[in-house]
Amino acid sequence: MKNILVDGIVGTRPNMMKMAALARAINEDGTFRLRLIHTGQHYDSLMSDVFFQQLGLPIPDFNLGVGSGSQGSQTAHIIEEYEKLLLKEGFPKGVVVVGDVTSTIACALTAVKLGIPVAHVEAGLRSNDRTMPEEINRIVTDSISDLLLVSDPDGLINLGREGHSSDKVKFVGNVMIDTLFSQIDKVNQSNIYDQLGIISGQYAYLTLHRPSNVDDPVILRRIISVIADLSNDLPFIFAIHPRTKARIDEFGISFPISNNFRVTGPLSYFDNMKMIKDAKVVLSDSGGIQEEASALNVPCMTLRYNTERPSTVDLGSSELVGNDPTLIRNAWLRLMSGNWKQACKLPLWDGLASRRIIEVLKNQWS
Ligand code: UD1
Repeated sequence: MKNILVDGIVGTRPNMMKMAALARAINEDGTFRLRLIHTGQHYDSLMSDVFFQQLGLPIPDFNLGVGSGSQGSQTAHIIEEYEKLLLKEGFPKGVVVVGDVTSTIACALTAVKLGIPVAHVEAGLRSNDRTMPEEINRIVTDSISDLLLVSDPDGLINLGREGHSSDKVKFVGNVMIDTLFSQIDKVNQSNIYDQLGIISGQYAYLTLHRPSNVDDPVILRRIISVIADLSNDLPFIFAIHPRTKARIDEFGISFPISNNFRVTGPLSYFDNMKMIKDAKVVLSDSGGIQEEASALNVPCMTLRYNTERPSTVDLGSSELVGNDPTLIRNAWLRLMSGNWKQACKLPLWDGLASRRIIEVLKNQWS
């Protein structure tokens, strides 16, 4: 009987791929009843609704409707609204937060202050770069959570170094890869190639949204310009994030739109995964895409100087290229000459992470 209430928090696009796997496992197991809370941090239908439809996530029980804002105002608004909801609708046995976004830290903080235990899925990741908003979110969320559910072996080392008790740390694997494996047939059926007029294995796929790449006009202009050059070698598809689109418009950067440099809006889960899976190379600053490309053994040029997911570099197919045009060009030449590493199988990226998480929750909360 599903009688033990747990809250699951989603706010942004990458949360949804992770919560989808957990929602399915909770439903199959039957011990818990999921109350799904959407903070509304991402609100465009292409950043949110489409993932619910494609991944079979239940309609959220509540939407806090916070929308865009500065880090501080979004965090404050989520805390205020989630606290009101908990006080009005009742406390769950525990709250499950995923990843490292503003919604993660805000809901974890709200719950622990009301005495509700929190489980953090994807605990222990560290880029050691405190200029990233996500790094602060990771450190704070881990420091206040009751259960630290780790996806990357380095997470165990990081949490040990920070002095977290080993009782609350569990290595469970990667829930985003659960979703990828469970949806692979539908990914293969995507007709995105027809829409974009491209051929499998003969394009590069680009995504960009990190503040360090898109908030500085000089850096963003340089990246777009080097990509435009590289598109003379191979067609590029750039799936543009709303944040990046807003910056490009604000800075007055123009694209060299041509058949070899195509810009689309954010893609659905199936279309995005199909684009990653069959790309000759992916260029991205997304943490999730480093993992997905590694799981699929697709070369990934990560346009960052650090990563909180080191196993994607040590064992996967990602390399930290940075955002300097010379470094990007050098990596590109290596890739085009066929000189790129193969991914190995990553530990516990086996499609079963969410089941392991449910077992941990049952031990603690039932
Ligand atoms: C957030 C996460 C980031 C994650 C990313 C995935 C934080 C601190 N950052 O970054 O870790 O990798 O989501 O996408 O939580 N916008 C829209 N429509 C939307 C959502 C956003 O137009 O549905 C635009 C708005 O201009 C907004 C901007 O994007 O101000 C930034 O959105 P925000 O949620 O603050 O952060 P992301 O850059 O999306």
